[in-house]
Amino acid sequence: MSTLVTGIGELFVGDAAGTVMEQAAFVVEDGRVAWVGPAAEAPAADAAYDVGGRAVIPGFVDSHSHLVFAGDRSAEFAARMAGESYAAGGIRTTVRATREAGDAELTAHVARLVAEMRRQGTTTLEIKSGYGLSVADEARSLAVARQFTEETTFLGAHVVPEGISAEDYVALVTGPMLEAARPYASWIDAFCERGAFDVDQARAVLAAGAAVGLKGRLHANQLTYGGGVQLACELGLVAVDHCTYLSDADVDALAQSGTVATLLPGVEFSTRHPYVDARRLIDAGVRVALASDCNPGSCFTSSLPFCIALAVRDMGMTPSEAVSAATAGGAAALDRTDVGHLSAGAAADFAVLDAPSHVHLAYRPGVPLVAETWRAGQRIDG
Ligand code: NIG
Ligand code: FE
Repeated sequence: MSTLVTGIGELFVGDAAGTVMEQAAFVVEDGRVAWVGPAAEAPAADAAYDVGGRAVIPGFVDSHSHLVFAGDRSAEFAARMAGESYAAGGIRTTVRATREAGDAELTAHVARLVAEMRRQGTTTLEIKSGYGLSVADEARSLAVARQFTEETTFLGAHVVPEGISAEDYVALVTGPMLEAARPYASWIDAFCERGAFDVDQARAVLAAGAAVGLKGRLHANQLTYGGGVQLACELGLVAVDHCTYLSDADVDALAQSGTVATLLPGVEFSTRHPYVDARRLIDAGVRVALASDCNPGSCFTSSLPFCIALAVRDMGMTPSEAVSAATAGGAAALDRTDVGHLSAGAAADFAVLDAPSHVHLAYRPGVPLVAETWRAGQRIDG
């Protein structure tokens, strides 16, 4: 069964050439894009679906989220907006609430957030653990995450929980906790930051993960300058996330290594740290991704359209660069080539916008422009 998606006023293909086509069409067959091109040249198909002149973009690929948690930290946000600064120690508040929550409660909460993401155009997402911080609670968090995505990340090294030394905790993370997490995880991550884990500890965690076949990614340079970005580049990790405080040497290392810099502007919005100068990175040849970092502490948004608007307004990205970073860029940050674009052969994952072009995502901030979200040729926003 093939379906011709037609009446596309603007198609943002999301390929490396940055193709944007007007009056376009594509054919979906077996969940994939079988053909894409000008509407006038469209081949015959079994069925047709007319989007009525609206814009179509690839589904967003959100490569960084922490959806498995319980509890509420809105009071922390309110205090920050009144002048308090963000502290990584707030993570422990969520750890307490998450440990107390039942499996069904945790799963239902993730389902609600995933549905929220889908309504805003996200078709592929990564989910981390990191609010369990015990052997059982990290394995449980990943088992819950795995019900929603294959892109699951073990983040036992989020902070050192109460009641254990840093040295003993790193031994636990790299030993029994990793063993329990392994069946449910594809990636391993660590929060490399003052107040969390230093470069040597992060290196040990990533090495232990690599030894059991987990791919590495890293939280680095979020709150301070430090060695995390260079560690990620030295190890050739697929992605390093946050990158808020970057020296020139960090930018050079990113450009040389090809490690994707995942920028999380919702965090800067919610913590009042400075927005990243994405222009500096792009001009240096660094591959960038945009992701939500949806979590209860530093940034509780699930909206990539919101992140795109911030990136265009405050980070020096063009609308086209920002949409690419939230689609193909996110895919690169997850080591995926099958999603994040709508070239022939890609997954038929796309969003139909109630707008004539992708530019409106930044031009009309805060307006729910995603009208439909499709994954593998099926509607998923209902
Ligand atoms: O990516 N940086 C570390 N972890 C999360 C924040 C976690 C929290 O505050 O609960 C982040 O920003
Ligand atoms: Fe994060």
